[in-house]
Amino acid sequence: MNSKKYFESVASHWDKMQKSFFDENVREKAFEIAQTQPGNLAADIGAGTGFITEGLVARGLKVIAIDQSAGMLKVLKSKFMLGDKVDCRVGEAEKLPIEDNRVDYVFANMYLHHVKSPPKAIKEMARILKPGGMLVITDIDEHEFEFLKTEHHDRWMGFKRKDVEKWLDEANLMDVSVDCIGETCCAESNSGSEKASVSIFIATGKK
Ligand SMILES: C[S@@+](CC[C@H](N)C(=O)[O-])C[C@H]1O[C@@H](n2cnc3c(N)ncnc32)[C@H](O)[C@@H]1O
Repeated sequence: MNSKKYFESVASHWDKMQKSFFDENVREKAFEIAQTQPGNLAADIGAGTGFITEGLVARGLKVIAIDQSAGMLKVLKSKFMLGDKVDCRVGEAEKLPIEDNRVDYVFANMYLHHVKSPPKAIKEMARILKPGGMLVITDIDEHEFEFLKTEHHDRWMGFKRKDVEKWLDEANLMDVSVDCIGETCCAESNSGSEKASVSIFIATGKK
């Protein structure tokens, strides 16, 4: 099963799964660091069922939510039936369906370790930022839990922070920082024999 099929298959119970992996502190800390402003436009890349989107809307932002999985976005849409605050678009990491210089923020939570080429995905996210806009990536540090690949379809076993920093630099972002957010991502293997607890980093850069 590929990543797209995997996320289609878990879409209806992703909210429950997500809550068992990490909690709202991840997004609230990311929003604090980014100093999000009501009325601004953000993109939520690899939006899934809307963990980040939901928090951004609560803070008064409008959101373009992008994901490869129509099933995940269908669940997201069902939460925002009213109003014009969220625009959902099916799209891929290499060719995001948003024009250049469009959004004030790009958020990507637990998305980067699923994409084929993290440096290319970062350049693509930088492309859609307005000058002065901020990229905010929250993802997992390098780890050794194979079952996250075999059971959760992770493509990368987390990242070295210095690699992420280099990729943001190569995307011509400024004031680049990759730091601890003080939160962990937790999961248990299907057999129950392994428990992963991996620290989460926050990477930011301005266009
Ligand atoms: C681990 S989930 C995270 C979802 C959400 N951001 C959250 O925090 O709950 C990763 C999401 O990224 C999407 N994704 C993975 N690879 C992608 C790609 N190449 N292009 C677009 N979306 C992708 C998946 O479909 C999935 O919804």
